[in-house]
Amino acid sequence: MTVHIGAKPGEIAETVLLPGDPYRAKWAAETFLTDVKLVNEVRGMLGFTGTWNGNRVTIQGSGMGMPSLSIYVNELIKDYDAKTLIRIGSCGGMQPQVKVRDVIIAMTASTINSPSSGIFKEFNYAPCADYGLLAAAVNAAQAKGTDTHVGGIYSSDVFYDERPDLNEQMTRHGILGVEMEAAELYTLAARYERRALAVLTVSDHLQTGEALPSTDRERSFGDMVEIALQAAFN
Ligand code: HPA
Repeated sequence: MTVHIGAKPGEIAETVLLPGDPYRAKWAAETFLTDVKLVNEVRGMLGFTGTWNGNRVTIQGSGMGMPSLSIYVNELIKDYDAKTLIRIGSCGGMQPQVKVRDVIIAMTASTINSPSSGIFKEFNYAPCADYGLLAAAVNAAQAKGTDTHVGGIYSSDVFYDERPDLNEQMTRHGILGVEMEAAELYTLAARYERRALAVLTVSDHLQTGEALPSTDRERSFGDMVEIALQAAFN
């Protein structure tokens, strides 16, 4: 047990999928895993461990934003020795070719600020994905026929953004989408020599205002979970 995770030693798998929403963790575990066991419910941040294709997997909610994710990922790595951590979540599209329902596989995650900024001070660290996981996820997405984009994303500290000028510059510099967690995940994975990746479903679009209807969310989310699982055990 840690401060925020109630799992007993050994109850967390080496491979952990991290949706922001704890109820998505429940849905994904019940949909894709067998022999599922609830291993955490501290603060309602549900975590489940089960089996996928003979491999042990934990699906643990991370909460929204980098400070919340940082707590869970620090404890998963330092106390449970998680080795492969894959964020599965939604993002806002920032390029015209990126459509709602498409998948983004994040090669890099830019930030203004993260829980790790205090370490770096004036250094602009470039958080990046594990290349092996990234390549395996791209192959899995292509095999599924999912419309997929690979490139840089932006991990924001705010959902209700007040900097349209900054979004404009990011779009101009090829940023594919915005979410709120990946940069800190990539930074912690680098610090502790773990593998990390973010596989994201585009749920809304900043320029067009289009949003995924709630009826479609489950199916699109499912593609992303399968891509993440296939990448983890490639
Ligand atoms: N901003 C930040 N995070 C998000 C968004 C967004 O527009 N959409 C989905 N996650």
